[in-house]
Amino acid sequence: MLPHDPNLLVGLERPDDAGVYKLADDLAIIQTVDFFTPIVDNPYMFGQIAAANALSDVYAMGGRPLTAMNIVAFPVKTMDISVLTEILRGGLDKIAEAGAVLVGGHSVEDDELKYGLSVTGVVHPERVVMTSGALPGDRLILTKPLGTGLINTALKGGLAEREAVARATQCMAALNDRASEAMQEVGVNACTDVTGFGFLGHACEMAENSGVGMRIDLASLPLMAEAIEYAKMGLVPAGTHRNWDFRRDMVQAGGGLPDYLRDVLFDPQTSGGLLISVPADKADRLLARLHEVGIVEARLVGEVLQEPKDRVIVV
Ligand code: CO
Ligand code: CO
Repeated sequence: MLPHDPNLLVGLERPDDAGVYKLADDLAIIQTVDFFTPIVDNPYMFGQIAAANALSDVYAMGGRPLTAMNIVAFPVKTMDISVLTEILRGGLDKIAEAGAVLVGGHSVEDDELKYGLSVTGVVHPERVVMTSGALPGDRLILTKPLGTGLINTALKGGLAEREAVARATQCMAALNDRASEAMQEVGVNACTDVTGFGFLGHACEMAENSGVGMRIDLASLPLMAEAIEYAKMGLVPAGTHRNWDFRRDMVQAGGGLPDYLRDVLFDPQTSGGLLISVPADKADRLLARLHEVGIVEARLVGEVLQEPKDRVIVV
């Protein structure tokens, strides 16, 4: 039995990007936690990416991060402590960029290095943006290109081009702060951030939670060119197949999806972009605003449908 509390606006009963708890009529806190093992070689950049990723769930709920706490697992016997110093420096810089403050943390000794944050943010209780609010007729906007999981996998295999890694790293380290502010300015119906389930995994989740269907226009999706290359070479992260298996019954692709495209659409993303469901009459305004604030890869990628419910059609 889950404990019931009338102030718990978003909790385990209807899981979303983060938990939301109402403190007062005009104030709710958003709470989230995320940490993982390194995905890039540069410790400073790993710190930035892990922090941006943890902060992202606050932005996906339409909130503003206030405080953060470090979560660290470190193999102190086998790894130089300077690695940890660099990771924490990267995290701290990203927290500062987000306008939040680091208030503490906890570290344990572990065989495998892990880093991340727990983050607390704020939002007006009536302005919480959930995954469940998408309405038929809405347009779908994606704010970052897809393919970082494939590029990270190629990097681990020693096969990634340096430029691809640099671009993916930049993309993962970028905050979703301005995208979130833009969507709150314009007013939207639903949002989530694209992370471990991959783009289509998160689209399916939004469709299911909202009780709607979706049409995704393949040609309009922002994709990293090298990711397509690596998918064709079979450099696919382990999570991709699980993501596809979990949602395969919800996905309809007329001509069938070629394997490499399926692997891009279900590629687990780290610190991916926001997937936003916006009323049709506001879509152009939001897209223009996103481009204006420097989110140049934001694209209109599809539409929310009344029927078929719980289906994501890829055309
Ligand atoms: Co999320
Ligand atoms: Co998360």
